[in-house]
Amino acid sequence: MAYDVEEMKHLLRSQQFDRTMLQNLFSITDDIKSKFETKEGQLELKKKLADKMMFNIFYEPSTRTRISFASAGIHLGMDVVFTENAREFSSAAKGETLEDSIRVMCQYRPDTIVMRHYEIGASERAAAVAGDSVAIINAGDGGGQHPTQALLDLYTIQNELGKVDDLNIVIGGDLQNGRTARSLCYLLSKFSNIKVTLVSPPELRMERDIIEHLTEHGIEYVETDNELEKLAVSADVIYWTRIQSERIADKELVARCQDKYIIDKNITSRMKEKSIILHPLPRVHEISKEIDSDPRSAYFRQAGNGMFVRMALLLELLQNK
Ligand code: NCD
Repeated sequence: MAYDVEEMKHLLRSQQFDRTMLQNLFSITDDIKSKFETKEGQLELKKKLADKMMFNIFYEPSTRTRISFASAGIHLGMDVVFTENAREFSSAAKGETLEDSIRVMCQYRPDTIVMRHYEIGASERAAAVAGDSVAIINAGDGGGQHPTQALLDLYTIQNELGKVDDLNIVIGGDLQNGRTARSLCYLLSKFSNIKVTLVSPPELRMERDIIEHLTEHGIEYVETDNELEKLAVSADVIYWTRIQSERIADKELVARCQDKYIIDKNITSRMKEKSIILHPLPRVHEISKEIDSDPRSAYFRQAGNGMFVRMALLLELLQNK
């Protein structure tokens, strides 16, 4: 394991980070954000990775991750080559294996391949065949992980509440299939005096590997399928997610769960003044628009942080290579 993001070759899982690396990354993010305030700062950033190239290859739908990564690269001066819907528009549609596609792409000398794929472990497979000087970044692998989302989620918690320790965090929705909640749990386990409450329908509970990880790291956790009104009262963070309908074959289950938990004024009216609501987005049914103007609704600010955290990450991963 690399002890520094600069020493990291690929970014595949949240577990690659420790607390010091996270704090470093977040202070670089703050620095980038403040540079971005001025034209001179923006021009300075534009020179940082001017000799680097990113391939942005998405086999699954994406708005935020794809566009914020591309924007992050462009703001740092990178050239960006991208394909969206690679499942249909790349040679995957002709039967080419992921490994062969990655081997070929590496011939064109990118510095990084930011990849989203529908299979768990796809980014590990890509990393195993990528050329020596190509950093694979996992932008979501099926129901596996989404480490850069977790980084921006954690950054947003720190930015909004001033800390990550000593927090009561309620994570809910489709915890079985949602990769962002999985990746976030891995990062939260680095902090102290955290209490995690996992809210989901019984059929969509968090996988046991994450529960074991929380237990091993001494994180206090509770699993429940309801009580949201009660939990809202003491929550510092409500991190909500959608039912991942594209990953669930049982459409009756989707219909049953889709409107089960909705964060609306009934919930926010119970929340503390200093607390936040996060969501990786896209939201479907689970966050009512009526709470968008509540200052505690931080999900759009969270999405905005995504670009800056990804800029910090690209800088750290690629700057000295
Ligand atoms: C998430 C994802 O792709 O896992 N979206 C994102 O990257 N912000 C969450 C989701 O799709 O529900």
